[in-house]
Amino acid sequence: MEATIKVVLLGDSSVGKTSIVTRLKSGKFLAKHAATIGAAFITKTIEVPSNGASAEKRIHMEIWDTAGQERYKSLVPMYYRDANIALLVFELGSVSSLQCAKTWFQDLQDRAQGTQVILVGNKYDLVCEEHSGELAIPAELQGLPYVAVSAKTGYNFDALNKIIISLVPENQFKILPKDNEQGNILEINKERSGGGCIC
Ligand code: GTP
Repeated sequence: MEATIKVVLLGDSSVGKTSIVTRLKSGKFLAKHAATIGAAFITKTIEVPSNGASAEKRIHMEIWDTAGQERYKSLVPMYYRDANIALLVFELGSVSSLQCAKTWFQDLQDRAQGTQVILVGNKYDLVCEEHSGELAIPAELQGLPYVAVSAKTGYNFDALNKIIISLVPENQFKILPKDNEQGNILEINKERSGGGCIC
């Protein structure tokens, strides 16, 4: 069974959105990224850990990494429209990036009520453990699923994946036709269309 979901990353410039996407996609960290222009699109499929009794499940994520720079701000709503999940990213230790996350959250509440939000504090490697919780999360963002991660070290990406999985409703998983079944459907369509183009 597979579910396809649209995921969008929102947040201030340089908080590490592209680095989080790179870590999610390939498990790697690239020290230097050019600032995102407009938005970038990648896909990633994750396996849902099975408890043995249930059928194997996968989540196919269509991920939009948006640009944090002010000049691209007006484009961002185009990318979060219809998103199932938004990763609202801020930098641990940066009050201004948390304020920016709050603004995006208000935007989502106004224009994308169906989107589920995960608050992601990035760059955990730069704050020591006892200071990681010191940044006061604004009241508006409290109650959201929250995870502190480091795109650099990979810290807590398992937890992030778990939260994403937990937000995909059961009824979104569809049974995929087996390859040969899909082949049969194409054959039938071909016959119906007189053997020509089936587009
Ligand atoms: P925009 O494209 O401008 O919106 O930026 P962004 O949010 O996509 O940030 P990006 O991933 O480009 O990262 C910005 C800088 O932060 C880069 O120099 C990264 O190497 C660095 N960075 C990202 N994640 C981490 C992290 O977890 N730890 C540390 N130490 N640096 C990080």
